[in-house]
Amino acid sequence: MSAAPNIPFARPWVTDDDRKAVLEVLDGHILTHGPQGQAFETEFAQFLGDGAFCVSVSSCMAALHLAYLHFRIGPGDEVIVPAQTHVATVHAVEWVGATPVFVDCDPRTGNLTAEKIAPHITARTKAISVVHFVGIPCQMPAIMALASRYGLLVIEDCAIAVGSRYQGRHVGLFGDAGCFSFYPVKHLTTGEGGMFVSRHREVAEAVGRLRAFGVDRSYTERSMPGMYDVPSLGLNYRMSELQAALGVAQLRRVHENLDRRRTNFARLKSAFVHMPHVSILDSDDPCSTNSHYCLSLVLDGPLAKRRDEAVAKINGAGIGTSVYYPKPVSQMIYYRNKYGEAGHAVPEASRLSRQSMALPVGPHLREEDIGYIAKTVATIIGGLTHE
Ligand SMILES: Cc1ncc(COP(=O)(O)O)c(C=O)c1O
Repeated sequence: MSAAPNIPFARPWVTDDDRKAVLEVLDGHILTHGPQGQAFETEFAQFLGDGAFCVSVSSCMAALHLAYLHFRIGPGDEVIVPAQTHVATVHAVEWVGATPVFVDCDPRTGNLTAEKIAPHITARTKAISVVHFVGIPCQMPAIMALASRYGLLVIEDCAIAVGSRYQGRHVGLFGDAGCFSFYPVKHLTTGEGGMFVSRHREVAEAVGRLRAFGVDRSYTERSMPGMYDVPSLGLNYRMSELQAALGVAQLRRVHENLDRRRTNFARLKSAFVHMPHVSILDSDDPCSTNSHYCLSLVLDGPLAKRRDEAVAKINGAGIGTSVYYPKPVSQMIYYRNKYGEAGHAVPEASRLSRQSMALPVGPHLREEDIGYIAKTVATIIGGLTHE
C-alpha cells in the first residue's frame, strides 16, 4: 500500500542558488545596509516597472506602519480598512492612534470596491487602505477616482500580491504607498521581510530614513565613518543583507513561480467550477491579473455549515489548507473590545471566514499533487453534498 501523501499548503521554494547567495554574504563582512539591500530594492523596482521606488524593510507590517507615520496619519483621523484581512493591515492604523473604519468586501473577490467604501467616508477620513485579497487586484482606477474626489491617501497592502496587476500596472503603484511581505508562505520569501514602494523618489527617500533611526546619511553616504546627524525621529525596520541576498535570488525565479501558480490554479479551478454550492474567489475582469496566492473555495447552501468538516477530511487525506482569514478583523478580540460590533456588520467578510478554505497552488506542487488535490477535494465535497 502506498503511503498517504503529505502536501503542505505552502512551502518556501529555496534552491541551491538561494543558499549560495546567503552563504556568500556570510563569507563577507557586510551583514546589513549594504549592496544586497540596494540590489534587492533596484531589482524589485525593475520587476514592478512604471518607475517604482523601493525601500526594503523588516516586514509588511513595518512598511504599513512607516506609511502612516510618513503621511502623518494620527489621532482624530479615520482610515478605511477592509474587515476581511490580516490584522497587520489594521494594527498599523491603531499604532499611529488613528481610528480604523471597517468595510465589508465584494463576495466574488474578497476585495474592497469603490461602491462599498463610499458610504463610509466622513469629514475625518484621511486614507483608504486596500488589500489585494489572495492576489486578486482591487479595481484601483475606481478606488483612486473616489480617493481623489475626497482628497484621501490610498495605502495598498500588497502582502500577498507579488505579480498582481490591473491594466498591466503592478499593484502598489496606484496609491500613495504599496507594502509587500516576504514571509515564508508568500510568493517570494526572505524569512521575514517586506518592501515599501512608492511612485515618488522623495517619499521613498524619506521612508528610507524613517526605517533607519531617522539618520540623515546612510552608511555609504558618510564622508567620515561614524559621522551622521538625526533631523527626525525614526525606527529600526531595516532588512539584513542575508535576507536581501535571498530576496535577490528568489526574484530571479519570480516569473516561473507565477507561471506555475497560474497553471496550478487553472487546473484546480476547472475541477471545481461546476460543483454545486461551491464558488471560487477570482475575478472575471479582463483588466485584472491575479497572482494566484492560493485557491479559495467558498461553500454555500447545504454546505455552508460544513466547512470545518470538509477541511478535516481534506487534511486527513494529506492535503494542507489554510483560511484567509480566520475572522473579520473587527471581530478579533482586541478590536471587538475596543470598538464593539455595533455598526460593524460585515456579512460577506464573515461568510468568507466561516465558509471558505484555501487550497495550495504554489510552486512546491508536482503535477501529480495537483491531480490528487483536484480528485480528492471534489470527492470529499461531492460526498458531503449528497449525504
Ligand atoms: C494582507 C496581509 N497584510 C499584512 C501581512 C503581514 O505581513 P508581514 O508578516 O510581512 O508583516 C499579512 C501576512 O500574512 C497579510 O496577509
